[in-house]
Amino acid sequence: MFTINNHTHNDHKKIEHLLDLSFGTGRKGKSAYALRKGQVAVPELALAAKQNDELVGSIQFWPLGLSLTEGAVAPPGVLLLGPLAVHPEQQNMGIGQALIDEGLQRASALNYAAAILVGDPAYYCKFGFDHKCVAGLTLAAEADQKRVQGRELTPGSLSELRGEIISFPEDSDQNLKK
Ligand SMILES: CC(C)(COP(=O)(O)OP(=O)(O)OC[C@H]1O[C@@H](n2cnc3c(N)ncnc32)[C@H](O)[C@@H]1OP(=O)(O)O)[C@@H](O)C(=O)NCCC(=O)NCCS
Repeated sequence: MFTINNHTHNDHKKIEHLLDLSFGTGRKGKSAYALRKGQVAVPELALAAKQNDELVGSIQFWPLGLSLTEGAVAPPGVLLLGPLAVHPEQQNMGIGQALIDEGLQRASALNYAAAILVGDPAYYCKFGFDHKCVAGLTLAAEADQKRVQGRELTPGSLSELRGEIISFPEDSDQNLKK
């Protein structure tokens, strides 16, 4: 059995090690990392899965910015999901699913409007993520736009938006929750 709780200070090094193992040490060159640069993950949504007190999985969510076509107003509380990783020896046991479910449930309870991620559609479709609801939004640094997917937590929060996905602007309140 595994448990899911918030990241603790002591988890930090182990999480970095797990992410290197899962994505390789070149992971920081990925498009999603550029979006997270200079930001802090939302503490309430930074979750660790543990088995016998050993870290076996991790998920984080980050504030995200949207630069929309003139006149459009960004919905409050759009999150960037990731990275999600489960230790290779503990995969296919439902840990990834439990981390996503718990993260999205907590995000919803905290009134976040939507989550966006860059990842494999074949995995994330079963959690309600799709490219269709973010088809009007471009992530310039991502070569394969089909990997950019969204999931609305508030119905209609993403699908009508047109513009660019950007880092959360530090001088803006656009991402404040409702
Ligand atoms: C992707 C990842 C987080 C899944 O975690 P997990 O705990 O093994 O996932 P779950 O046990 O909840 O789900 C397993 C199911 O997902 C499927 N799956 C795993 N990775 C997949 C992928 N990239 N595409 C499609 N399906 C995938 C498995 O085949 C399995 O299918 P089944 O239930 O039909 O047997 C884990 O494999 C991982 O850390 N991979 C490396 C890092 C990574 O790629 N992370 C982000 C995904 S883009």
